[in-house]
Amino acid sequence: MNTKISINNVTKRYGDITIIPNLSLEVKEGEFFTLLGPSGCGKTTLLRMISGFNSIEAGEISFNDKCINDIPAHKRNIGMVFQNYAIFPHLTVRKNVEYGLRQRKISKSEIDRRVDEIMEAMHIKEYADRLPQNLSGGQQQRIALARAIVIKPAILLMDEPLSNLDAKLRVEMRNFIKQIQKKFEITTIYVTHDQEEALAISDRIGVMNLGILQHVSYPQEIYLRPKNTFVSTFIGHSNLFLASLKKNEIHFDGGFVFKAPTLKTNEDQNIIVGVRPENFVISDKGIAIKIESVTFLGHMVQYEFTSVNNITELSQTTCFFSEETSEDKTLYKIGDTLYIIPKENKINVYDINKLLIS
Ligand SMILES: Nc1ncnc2c1ncn2[C@@H]1O[C@H](COP(=O)(O)OP(=O)(O)O)[C@@H](O)[C@H]1O
Ligand SMILES: [Mg+2]
Repeated sequence: MNTKISINNVTKRYGDITIIPNLSLEVKEGEFFTLLGPSGCGKTTLLRMISGFNSIEAGEISFNDKCINDIPAHKRNIGMVFQNYAIFPHLTVRKNVEYGLRQRKISKSEIDRRVDEIMEAMHIKEYADRLPQNLSGGQQQRIALARAIVIKPAILLMDEPLSNLDAKLRVEMRNFIKQIQKKFEITTIYVTHDQEEALAISDRIGVMNLGILQHVSYPQEIYLRPKNTFVSTFIGHSNLFLASLKKNEIHFDGGFVFKAPTLKTNEDQNIIVGVRPENFVISDKGIAIKIESVTFLGHMVQYEFTSVNNITELSQTTCFFSEETSEDKTLYKIGDTLYIIPKENKINVYDINKLLIS
């Protein structure tokens, strides 16, 4: 049976310090949900509250509408996978995988059948009688995943499971994990600080900062319409400009005026305009910029720029615009000056009073 996870107004405190102030979230049956955020934002803390290894100071967590706050960890029927594999070095692959089943009252033949099935799905059957220490990181992580899934858990929790693997294997393994999750249809909460991994693997993502869910949505929506400036700069790059909205015009600092007919205000409003690097067009007027560096990325060329007219840009890092690689286009050089205009329907506008936290 598939499990729905409901988290209602939960709080986590360590002494006087509140790590998670008041968090609510619903993860749907069979969903692959990712918690994404910088190191220290509270991802592991929340995962441990769900698994029963952390106390819950306020609020309620339910599986299929049944509150589990007072159910001890080992009775929550949760499969877990961690960054450091946590498999037993002195047990063979088979013994590692069947470990959780041996704790339950299941017949030997049923254990063998389930372990064989899972090892087959995980492509580790050929190593069944080997000790894990001789296997690669990717293989060890598949053992850990097999061990977590073989108990038919109500939910699967994974905390940065790919962080110890090298880049190529990480991509292979994330595709593998996604396939396995869909095959077994286990409601999954996956934790990562890697935005690309989150975009690639998830049905939905919750972007977290400072113990607060900043934006919960589908990967595309999070990339195209980030809810606040934290999300827009944490996921991909955004150029942030200070501006004011007057009627249906955006007045950038420095004088450039941009008509935005989909926006309208009666009172002048200070705003921040977010523009992705790929969402500028080059024009004969607009924001005057100077190219500071040129990076060829294969499918794209990325230009770092500064504004010539003192347009205030708020990006913590640098400003970029990018163009698709094409033989017909001239590459700009360092020191070139040109004008760029944001694409009207691709900009994101933020209230200046809600800078980091929505
Ligand atoms: N047992 C603990 N006691 C006190 N503070 C803790 C404890 N565990 C985690 N923290 C603090 O909680 C915050 C969130 O930590 P964590 O959930 O591990 O972040 P993440 O997994 O997102 O990197 C950090 O500031 C961390 O120092
Ligand atoms: Mg963590």
